[in-house]
Amino acid sequence: MERVDGRRFDELRPIKIEAGVLKRADGSCYIEWGKNKIYAAVYGPKKVLPRHLEKDDRAILRCRYNMAPFSVEERKRPGPDRRAVEIGKVMQGALEPAILMHYYPKSMIEISVEVVQANAGTRCAGITAVSVALADAGIPMRDLVPSCAAGKVDGQVILDLAKEEDNSGEADMPVAIIPRLNQITLLQMDGKLTEQEVEQAITLAMQGCQQVYQLQIDALRRKYAGAEYE
Ligand code: CDP
Repeated sequence: MERVDGRRFDELRPIKIEAGVLKRADGSCYIEWGKNKIYAAVYGPKKVLPRHLEKDDRAILRCRYNMAPFSVEERKRPGPDRRAVEIGKVMQGALEPAILMHYYPKSMIEISVEVVQANAGTRCAGITAVSVALADAGIPMRDLVPSCAAGKVDGQVILDLAKEEDNSGEADMPVAIIPRLNQITLLQMDGKLTEQEVEQAITLAMQGCQQVYQLQIDALRRKYAGAEYE
């Protein structure tokens, strides 16, 4: 079966990752994933505000996901909506198990994801970019967190749905993993799959995550290989 953009069923869209692109953030990353264009910025660890959120034994992680009004076909009303709050929460859940939160009691790590162009799969691209930005900020982690979706279009289980496929497809399943721990930290599903298709989609998405993982490592190597540590 030929896909809209000519990809094989198990092929990712072209992905470009660049670490450390924003001067004012402690860590940052820019990702182009197909037609998605996303910035991730990390601040901290720093003092917790508001104070009542502070934890005595570990850091807290706050994630803000934002779509620019011009990032989608139909102009998006500026400001947070339910979808953005949900994605902020799932990003936090996907990333936190990878971060050594107990190293930084009474502090917070603040994450900002800005989607400047969207074409399906922004939460996966966002999580991927944030974990590179966390590494760029020097925050100790168990591993990076690559993320990638699989889904079903025209009866076929396929990797990394583009917007046209997402619109016409039967299901979409974003996944994120911590490769070193072989742990899944994000698993959502939109639409309908049989039990067997769920298995297939998870396996395919996890293979996609492994490819994304290599690209994350390459991006960090490009930025830091041979560089003097400051
Ligand atoms: O982006 P992701 O797949 O993680 O989340 P989604 O809620 O499943 O959205 C799928 C896609 O719908 C987004 O990536 C955008 O391309 C598009 N979208 C849109 O056109 N307008 C919105 N207000 C929200 C999403």
